[in-house]
Amino acid sequence: MNRFFIVGDVPYDETLINNTIIRDFLVDTEAEANFVIKTSENQLELIDKSLNLSLSHPLFSKGFSHRLKTLNKTEPLIKAISKLESESRIGDFTFGLGADSLAMAAKGFNVLAFERSPILFVFNSIALQRGPEKGFPFSAKINYFFADAKEACRIWKNQGVFEGFEAPEIIYLDPMFVEKKKSALPGKEMQILKNLVGGDLDKDELFSVALDVCKNRVLYKRPLHAPQINDGPQHIFKGKSHKIEMYLRN
Ligand SMILES: C[S@@+](CC[C@H](N)C(=O)[O-])C[C@H]1O[C@@H](n2cnc3c(N)ncnc32)[C@H](O)[C@@H]1O
Repeated sequence: MNRFFIVGDVPYDETLINNTIIRDFLVDTEAEANFVIKTSENQLELIDKSLNLSLSHPLFSKGFSHRLKTLNKTEPLIKAISKLESESRIGDFTFGLGADSLAMAAKGFNVLAFERSPILFVFNSIALQRGPEKGFPFSAKINYFFADAKEACRIWKNQGVFEGFEAPEIIYLDPMFVEKKKSALPGKEMQILKNLVGGDLDKDELFSVALDVCKNRVLYKRPLHAPQINDGPQHIFKGKSHKIEMYLRN
């Protein structure tokens, strides 16, 4: 089982690790951990000791700042959300490192985000808390939950409300780990994420429950040559390395 440790001199909100599931993954010394979250004034890193690799959180990387400044309609995700009402709430059910959620928040959308990896959840939560200080005030537009999004869908279906929120109008899914030359995530980040969260074996089920609970549509990021699902999407926003398929709710 993956275990993590947090080192560094920048304080973070410790209520984050009050969750009993998350506490099971946290160890008392760096030596016992295979993942280390390292905080410093100008950096936030996730170190994978077994791969001997580390990554910077997007909010602390120059490449991501550049992406945010150049967000335009050549990106399939930006094409896909550009005509939506800006007060729409988008559910990002596969938060990952949060680059896509942050791009949607930068475009003015409120985002309801889910991540089921406890280590990634803590890493991202520390980053989101530091968003305003790093010049990204829109990180506050993201409501971020440690949960399997399928479980949230089950609660929406049975009780109508999850943690005070109704089901989102739009749901965005990006379960894929397909490495392409022009992928948004460079190779080492992909390797660390794969090592941390494993495969995406339940992606078909996630798609099906998301389409069932969303109020309007699912935007599904998929490899360019992914096979058609059922009768196919109503629209495809194509990019050079991937596509975003739009499925309207019946
Ligand atoms: C390819 S990454 C997403 C990358 C993300 N779009 C970004 O911009 O960084 C997929 C992530 O979704 C998470 N995930 C997959 N299925 C999930 C589910 N059912 N509920 C919550 N998180 C899930 C995985 O743990 C992984 O971190």
